[in-house]
Amino acid sequence: MFPRGRKLLLGVAGGISAYKSCDLLRRLQDEGFIVDVVPTAASLNFVGKSTWEALSGRKVITDLWSDVETVPHISMAKESDLIVIAPTTADLLAKLASGRADDLLTNIVLASTAPKILVPAMHSEMWLNPATVANVKLLQERGFFIITPDVGQMTGSDIGIGRYPESSRIITEINLHVMNSADLKGKKILITAGGTREPIDPIRFIGNRSSGKQGFALAMAAASRGAQVHLVSANTDLPIIEGITTTYVETAEQMASVLQIEFPHSDALIMSAAVADVRVANYSDQKIRKEGLNQVDLEKNPDILKTLSGIKKSGQIIVGFAAETSADIASLEQSGHEKLASKSLDLIYVNNVSNGAIFGSDQTQGLIIDNQKKVIKVPEISKDTLSDILLDQLVSKLG
Ligand code: C5P
Repeated sequence: MFPRGRKLLLGVAGGISAYKSCDLLRRLQDEGFIVDVVPTAASLNFVGKSTWEALSGRKVITDLWSDVETVPHISMAKESDLIVIAPTTADLLAKLASGRADDLLTNIVLASTAPKILVPAMHSEMWLNPATVANVKLLQERGFFIITPDVGQMTGSDIGIGRYPESSRIITEINLHVMNSADLKGKKILITAGGTREPIDPIRFIGNRSSGKQGFALAMAAASRGAQVHLVSANTDLPIIEGITTTYVETAEQMASVLQIEFPHSDALIMSAAVADVRVANYSDQKIRKEGLNQVDLEKNPDILKTLSGIKKSGQIIVGFAAETSADIASLEQSGHEKLASKSLDLIYVNNVSNGAIFGSDQTQGLIIDNQKKVIKVPEISKDTLSDILLDQLVSKLG
């Protein structure tokens, strides 16, 4: 299975071919997508809610008035990395083209910034009707990706264009689209994740709150774009990502020694791990008794990024992260510029982690700053989406 780790929302509109989406759902899961199904009310005449719940293994809501306290149209819009609507009926094409939002699915589409793939299926006359043709053209212009229907037998006896394509063709088209044309193919990307732990004795350590989610999201996003990824993970509870080379380390020193070996033959390093600035000077291999724990002597860890910037060859790109505790955007930006300069980075992502924000969360927000002083303000988005935005910047720097 190719690593992707993307949340996909499968919309199902009210066409007879809705039953074929049961197979599509299974195939999408085989591809590693986590799929939430949002059927329209009309489609429930063809395939019931229980079928979708059983097949997806996830709760299915079908209207705007369920679970209102969680504002599902907004939360589902934010959480979905990709929206696929299969089948898309002529009516839904018309609704989407006019920006209507009168049910859960159309509300999600309108609220989402994720890529949207439509799989229209209908009788040839309806597909070829000038109104449908115009709606499809308008939606394409607005960035919707339309998978053209197949030619073949319709529900009745007639034959023509409008058939729901085979699941395998839909999957291929989705993969091509999601892979962003594999713009990191052939590139070796070294990514660090998690928080280092500096042992005091065999029982205690100095650590930090990094969960590893951002680094793992970056690793999956980079692999999905064709990169050869080496993930160097400090402490995290996240499951290993199948297909990605992962080296586990505990301390900053261990991370530094892996990176010293790996960096010289990598195209880019993304340093999203939270590395402890200090370590314990006199580690005790015996448990220190309470009475002896009044003071722990610390010494500085080497700054890994600074060290690696020093041996960086032309063409190599280094991306840093900075966790700050300032809500003031101007000072966040200022410290981003300073850190980028002091560590000779190409890009940095600065965020405000005060009050328990971001560490451990699936969401993030902050600023991307590059070595040309370009600043991109990142509103609250998923760590998966941030990964793709950062990788877009990385790709343009890799040239
Ligand atoms: O200076 P500060 O710790 O805020 O910088 C954060 C960035 O520097 C992160 O990308 C982190 O991985 C990296 N770092 C490092 N070595 C250290 C401390 C932080 O590479 N000893």
